[in-house]
Amino acid sequence: MAVRVDVEFAAKDAIRAVKRGDLIIVVDVLRCSSSIINALANGVKAVIPTETLKEAYRLREQHPDFLLVGERKGRKLKGFDLGNSPLEFVREVVDGKTAIMTTTSGTAALVRCRRAEHVLVGAFLNAGAVAKKTAEIAQRNKADVSFVLAGEKGLLSLEDFLCAGAIASKFPTGRFSFSDEALAAVLGFERVKDALREYVSKSRHAKHLIELGFKRDVNFSCKLDHFGLVPVYRDGKVTLMR
Ligand code: MLT
Repeated sequence: MAVRVDVEFAAKDAIRAVKRGDLIIVVDVLRCSSSIINALANGVKAVIPTETLKEAYRLREQHPDFLLVGERKGRKLKGFDLGNSPLEFVREVVDGKTAIMTTTSGTAALVRCRRAEHVLVGAFLNAGAVAKKTAEIAQRNKADVSFVLAGEKGLLSLEDFLCAGAIASKFPTGRFSFSDEALAAVLGFERVKDALREYVSKSRHAKHLIELGFKRDVNFSCKLDHFGLVPVYRDGKVTLMR
């Protein structure tokens, strides 16, 4: 039987994918997924996502040696070591550390998927790698696949939708059956893949980040297949899949 591929458009809809028992790929291109990927690429041991600030501060109190990172309204918060800029996660700062991360939508999407058996983190940065790993796990476990897009305030984000398309376009042909939403994401990605940065920059959240001075984050997050690593969320932590 073909593996069914679905897309949930926003963090609030994650529960539907969990209830279906699907393998889930959480996508928040701007910027939570991209930050997690770059953090792991630069030696972070684990990222602990929290949905609330309260929980993040509480964990930091229990573990003063952990980094506290994230944002609200795109900005770094009081008492935090880092914001949510992927480019802040440089080796000199993060190597060997565990990071507690809270962001507006991305970490909420992850936490809401915590009961799923397989949860991977995807972005343009690791699209090919996450597609390959997803295909292997889905076929081995006879699991269907859902993208859970972080979105923004319950709405679809263009960059997450295009990224779902980038990943899904790399699934082995013939063995995957796409919902209309998944097929639309693939068609959208195919249409803009040669000018990804240009189109992503037109999105609502990219415009907001550019206004805040984070244009480099947007550009970096549009690098397709920059890394071959796959983050996995299990037991409350995101780590590198070995
Ligand atoms: C989020 O989780 O909503 C985003 O990562 C926000 C951001 O760009 O920092």
